[in-house]
Amino acid sequence: MKKTDWIRPEWEKRIDELLSQMTVDEKIGQLNQVGPSPVGGFSVSLEEHRQMLADGRITQKEFDDFCSGAVRDTQEQDVRKGRIGSFLGVVGADACDHLQRIAVEESRLGIPLLFGLDVIHGQHTIFPIPLAGSCAWDEALWEESASIAAAEAAADGIHWTFAPMVDIARDARWGRIAEGAGEDAYLGARCAAARVRGFQGSDPAAPERLLSCAKHFIAYGAACGGRDYNTVDLSEQTLREVYLPPFEAAIDAGAATVMPSFNDVNGVPSSVNAFLLRRLLREELGFTGFTVSDANAIAECVIHGAAADRKDAAQQALAAGMDMDMCSRCYPENLRALLDEGQITGQQLDEAVRRVLRIKLAKGLFEHPYTRQTVSPAAHAAHRAAARRAAADSAVLLKNDGVLPLTAQTRVLLVGQLADCAGEMLGTWNLFGRAEETVSIKAALEEENLVTAYLPCCGPSMPLDCTQLQQVIDSEEPIVLAVVGELADSSGEASSLCNIDLPGEQNEMLTALRQAGKTVITVLCNGRPMAIPTAVEQSNALLELWHAGSEAGHAAVDLLYGCTSPSGRLTVTFPQHSGECPLYYSHPNTGRPLSPGRFSSKYLDAPLQPLFPFGFGLSYTTFSYSNLRCAVTEHGIEATVTVTNTGNRAARETVQLYVRDLVASRVRPVWELKGFRKCALAPGQQEMVTLTVSPIQLTFYDPAMRRVMEPGDFLLQVGHDVTDGLQATVTVTPTHIAAWS
Ligand code: GLC
Repeated sequence: MKKTDWIRPEWEKRIDELLSQMTVDEKIGQLNQVGPSPVGGFSVSLEEHRQMLADGRITQKEFDDFCSGAVRDTQEQDVRKGRIGSFLGVVGADACDHLQRIAVEESRLGIPLLFGLDVIHGQHTIFPIPLAGSCAWDEALWEESASIAAAEAAADGIHWTFAPMVDIARDARWGRIAEGAGEDAYLGARCAAARVRGFQGSDPAAPERLLSCAKHFIAYGAACGGRDYNTVDLSEQTLREVYLPPFEAAIDAGAATVMPSFNDVNGVPSSVNAFLLRRLLREELGFTGFTVSDANAIAECVIHGAAADRKDAAQQALAAGMDMDMCSRCYPENLRALLDEGQITGQQLDEAVRRVLRIKLAKGLFEHPYTRQTVSPAAHAAHRAAARRAAADSAVLLKNDGVLPLTAQTRVLLVGQLADCAGEMLGTWNLFGRAEETVSIKAALEEENLVTAYLPCCGPSMPLDCTQLQQVIDSEEPIVLAVVGELADSSGEASSLCNIDLPGEQNEMLTALRQAGKTVITVLCNGRPMAIPTAVEQSNALLELWHAGSEAGHAAVDLLYGCTSPSGRLTVTFPQHSGECPLYYSHPNTGRPLSPGRFSSKYLDAPLQPLFPFGFGLSYTTFSYSNLRCAVTEHGIEATVTVTNTGNRAARETVQLYVRDLVASRVRPVWELKGFRKCALAPGQQEMVTLTVSPIQLTFYDPAMRRVMEPGDFLLQVGHDVTDGLQATVTVTPTHIAAWS
């Protein structure tokens, strides 16, 4: 898929015909997405509607209408009249096909509905949260997990997922860091493209594929203070160099839709920001799909103070390039009047409708409006196996004094509330994964008879049980496996934290165990980087498992007992302390860079280095790097290095290439990731790896906002992580630049 694949003459001709037949109300209907319960948004549960009534969020009449089925009847009538173009949150082949049949067979023009859902990291088979998945540094894995999610969601009648979330996140306090690919623009771009390919495949009309949605456009992860939805104020240079590349990659990979973000960017909410939605997205990136607002985001432009009222918000959003209104009802309530009053034009309306119809045609909905996909038991089993591999490959070994891998029959004394909380392993944005179908760490260990006893002792939502802890301390068992971390809903949307320490008394538990002379193996289950210096200090080994999905327990056992060697590498920096956030590796040097000296850029009350750097991860073997050779060629700067497995176990290493532009008209970061390659090496095996920095990767935006490449010396580093590699300096001359132009 490419971004140009969405434009086909036969589709445009069909759209011309439809537009000529459609009434204004039918056109507006195509831009209207509603939830399964207009009164209750995305909820269909009676209990949630009862709670909304109690909270005053819905009226008694709305509640009664929901209970009586009048809401559903109204929606079906609206479908029949062509007033709804898409549903969010209607799930199940029968439910979707029921509404689709009304649209196709009972509405005047038979334009099919589009069913959307947040299929973020799995539908029924849940994969590790996206941040975890990014730590696999493996495009094939990113693509496979998205394609499996698509296959399962398509069988539920879904056409379109609001994923991949491609927001760069540099602040661990922001809960939605869990949903993306971490802090780096280059890795984020490669991951975004892989996930789009996985969801859509080469033919998004295929029954087992989903339309994708690159979100949230743009710079949502730069929210002030890491507080979700908060204001974003940044230079256009940074916006283009850090936050735009994943969207550019997703669109180049053929992303069908884009979702603008809740936040404002430099004072203009994305939903009504023509610079973002027209200039950047369409004119510069060449995006030909359609934009869908985030939930209620058009209406919230009034709360931002960018619109006087809902009608003003609707006018601004359509004019700015927002095509579909997700559940705010600003479009269905106001576009007709705005058109009649000349505040929007028929052309603006038609171009938005055209883009929606274009994607519906490309999805094949006019030919095949009803669910055709099923998932066989064999396919489901294969999905579980893939989820198990993904969970193992996403885990990052952060510390190991040699205690890991455990020998096959080593039994452990298991502690930690999370060890037996299968549901928490599913992480944020899990909609249909079920705890009873999820393998907890306790269950996986018990399957192999590897647990001598289980005493929870404490957890993120369990106070320290001193009696249990004393039992553990008094036991003869030398090895304790401690599962610690945070609950699934401690990260994700509306889940920012100002304190990213291990919650509760988990640190106290680890400290007591270590001081009692136990060998402590810690498994961390979390949705964000955490400030865990105590856990690191008190553990003999520490495995970052993340919220690893349906197969979390099996993956943990595979790694702890050496069935597979950990190969994950961090895609986010781990701070020593919450107060250091935002903390990321690709930062400018400043005039007084970090140093032990008094007058340097640091905190007096925190260590100089992060707890764990970007790209870091241990293995059960060791790797060495040698013979770095760099050369300027017609393709850019080529770096070749020899990597050797110097240990006694087969394992995979991710060779990472960083570049620093030493002198430039606008200061450049001390390092920028420009390439990586994951290699499988047997003990003693060597591999020569060549990574190339292309000329475009050497460009940046100068103070005058020109995209430039400047001659000069570039420092290259090739190695294990951003703090550990072989370095060489390469001089790029004006002649080189001319030859590359
Ligand atoms: C949410 C999220 C967005 C999601 C949408 C629909 O508020 O911001 O990522 O796709 O609403 O659930």
